[in-house]
Amino acid sequence: MTEIPQTGIAWPELREQMVNMANGDVNWREGKAAVYVFHSGDDVMQVAHDAYSLFIAENGLGPGAFPSLRNMEKQVIDMALNLQQAPEGGAGSMTSGGSESILLAVKACRDHVLAQRKVPGKPEILAPYSVHPAFDKAAHLMGLQVVRIACADDFKADVDAMADAVNENTIMLVGSAPCFPYGLIDPIEELSGLAQKHNLWLHVDACVGGYLNPFMREVTDNDIEPYDFSIPGVSSMSLDLHKYGYAAKGASTVLYREKALHKSQTFHFSDWPCGHMYTPTMAGTRPGGAIAAAWAVLNYLGREGYQARAAQIADARAQLVQGCQAAGCYIMGDPKLSIVAFGWQHNDILAVGEGLYEQGWFSSRVTRPDGIQYMISPEHHKTMSKYLKILKELMDDVHSGRRRRHQGDVSYS
Ligand SMILES: Cc1ncc(COP(=O)(O)O)c(C=O)c1O
Repeated sequence: MTEIPQTGIAWPELREQMVNMANGDVNWREGKAAVYVFHSGDDVMQVAHDAYSLFIAENGLGPGAFPSLRNMEKQVIDMALNLQQAPEGGAGSMTSGGSESILLAVKACRDHVLAQRKVPGKPEILAPYSVHPAFDKAAHLMGLQVVRIACADDFKADVDAMADAVNENTIMLVGSAPCFPYGLIDPIEELSGLAQKHNLWLHVDACVGGYLNPFMREVTDNDIEPYDFSIPGVSSMSLDLHKYGYAAKGASTVLYREKALHKSQTFHFSDWPCGHMYTPTMAGTRPGGAIAAAWAVLNYLGREGYQARAAQIADARAQLVQGCQAAGCYIMGDPKLSIVAFGWQHNDILAVGEGLYEQGWFSSRVTRPDGIQYMISPEHHKTMSKYLKILKELMDDVHSGRRRRHQGDVSYS
């Protein structure tokens, strides 16, 4: 179709067309998406769906018109601040996703820091090599620069090397909890020490772990490294509701230790015919459905629901680690959350990744060193054995020379 049809088409026909269009999509319901989708059960999906529908027309741009959405957002932010052990006076916003949360934290940092001190060159964000490209996107848009420092041998931020790179242009330090490539939590306490020594803003990117780490800690003997506002040097955090919060897509949270830091995130303009226009986030119009679905899922699951799903993820992770090692792969670092990256010392793991892709199994890959990255959803505890069987078959094929890598680039985009 290249034009809007002259006469409208009946919904049943359109629905059928759309279901057919989705035939070629990754079959995440059968556990084949180890990226993009966070499947935590049909009941959770139904709650998100119904809550989204209830507020599908409402607009978060107008809190005066929709006090319902203002209340829901406030409650979501309060729950998030509580979960991340924020001190009294913490503040935050709901956003459309991790990239927007990061963009806003970078803007808040830039405006706050540059109001306090002059920076001789281009302001710099200092980050481990493993941080998400959303920081580079934010820097690109705001005239800043990201300096990425190689990770240490344990695949985590090399804090000594980052300390060597601090200079008068540095305005922000970043650590992830966990990083996307390897699923590991950077040494946030050490980064906090560095931030405090030089009076720098420390952002913790917990887009993946914000709604998972606390519950994983509760179901796996407290073995998760500290990463949140309980560490004094942490200024801001990003945590995605549409990942392990299991909300509908289009929902994340950005949090600040103090209201004054949050204030630097907002934008106000009045020199146009309609006068004052105040927007706390990047968006103007904000989908009421995304706010409502996140509020509903947090309340529907409760702490126990999140703990149960963390336990399922831990089960799937144990299966994955054990299966990979039994097949002859090695695990990158010591992942304790939901992401596992694995390589193969003796042969081409990316040829195996290509085979998985051809059979409809979607995951990301890592480089430095080459590997496959698997982001676990709770429902994967049911399908992991099937995945491991296919992985082993493909490894045998590569080992025996029956399969070689073609051109395919199974990259995360
Ligand atoms: C660690 C981390 N930060 C940020 C993001 C960006 O989130 P989004 O895709 O919601 O913009 C991701 C996405 O995977 C991520 O893994």
